[in-house]
Amino acid sequence: MRLDIPMTTTGDNSGLDIELLRHQTPGCLRVNHLNNAGCALPPSKVTDTVVDHLHLEAMIGGYEAHADVHSRIESAYDSVAQLIGAHPDQIALLESATAAWDKAFISIHHTRPFSAGDRILVSSSEYASNVLPIMQLVKARGVRLEFIPDDEHGCVDVAGFANLLGADVAAVVINQCPSQNGLINDVAAIGAALRAADSPAWYLVDACQSIGQLPVSAPDIGADFISATGRKFLRGPRGTGFLYASERALAELEPFPLDLHSATWQSGGFEPASGARRFESWEKSYAALLGLGAAVDYALACGIDAMAGRISYLAEYARAGLSSVPGIIVRDRGLQKSGIVTFTHERVDARTLVSLIRKAHINVSLSTPDYARMDFESHAIDALVRVSPHAYNTTTELDQLLMVVSGARG
Ligand SMILES: Cc1ncc(COP(=O)(O)O)c(C=O)c1O
Repeated sequence: MRLDIPMTTTGDNSGLDIELLRHQTPGCLRVNHLNNAGCALPPSKVTDTVVDHLHLEAMIGGYEAHADVHSRIESAYDSVAQLIGAHPDQIALLESATAAWDKAFISIHHTRPFSAGDRILVSSSEYASNVLPIMQLVKARGVRLEFIPDDEHGCVDVAGFANLLGADVAAVVINQCPSQNGLINDVAAIGAALRAADSPAWYLVDACQSIGQLPVSAPDIGADFISATGRKFLRGPRGTGFLYASERALAELEPFPLDLHSATWQSGGFEPASGARRFESWEKSYAALLGLGAAVDYALACGIDAMAGRISYLAEYARAGLSSVPGIIVRDRGLQKSGIVTFTHERVDARTLVSLIRKAHINVSLSTPDYARMDFESHAIDALVRVSPHAYNTTTELDQLLMVVSGARG
């Protein structure tokens, strides 16, 4: 099926050439893709980079192809570092945000094992994969998992958070943009509160949904670790992600487990690799890694501020339109909102809505408590429809969604 979506005037101040963005995104011709928080449509530059490298591997051999593109692989680290204002030595490239987060967390636990009474403070809308390993430590070690209270807008209450800090807080785990409620947590203010309290806690920030849609600055956030994925707002290939590690993390933590890429086996001992690559493992898809580098370069060339402006404009357009549809309840919280728009219908179940929308060839997703149980249960929500436009989307595409939603009957 081929959709020819007419261009609309952008109506935003991003200065982006939307027609060009769409031209560079072949998937726009086939689908109305409003599921960028799931997995975005890549620009052709990203797909071509991946496919070209796979061809090179097939033609000359995988190891030989790797050697051939060595400098481009190094450039991918430079690009990710530039994206978040870090040094390339602070970047590890991994296969997902979860792989990155897990590596950070297990390395903390390996170096100074969490023990009974240690408190781990977690944002209430945290993603399941970042909570489950902590729950395992609660069960196995008597660690205390504490959800940080929200402020009146639903975000982490930064002032209240500061009062929770003490020498027994071993780690703080915060989601910058949760995947299911449209809010943005002030991760820089939380980092500042940790520094002001001289807290020894390890600070882990999940930037999985913020990277590519908002400026993410490692120096401003002041986290020990920032984890992110490639396939969402960054528009990279699936199976990519990265981990940023602070100077402190690099100086004090020994990653676990090490392998022959992340360390050298020496006579009578071993030496971890220098820099954040000690958090990586040996085997990876270099095609995907190069694709990630291409995606970051593309995002940088578009301009993160411009994309943030465009995404915010489209998300607000969607919220305003949805709010005017009888029966629809927009569920987003936060004073400042992200590009993630969530809603329910008073009479139509979210699952039914999603299948109606998909039947109209519009990609949106269903969010359920499995992804963030604390958040769903504390707001008594069973399931949500999630709409997540990217800069290449148009108001016309959002109008198509609004038309389908307006026609839904309970
Ligand atoms: C907020 C958040 N954190 C982490 C993840 C996990 O990312 P990945 O699937 O790349 O491990 C997701 C995925 O949807 C997410 O939305």
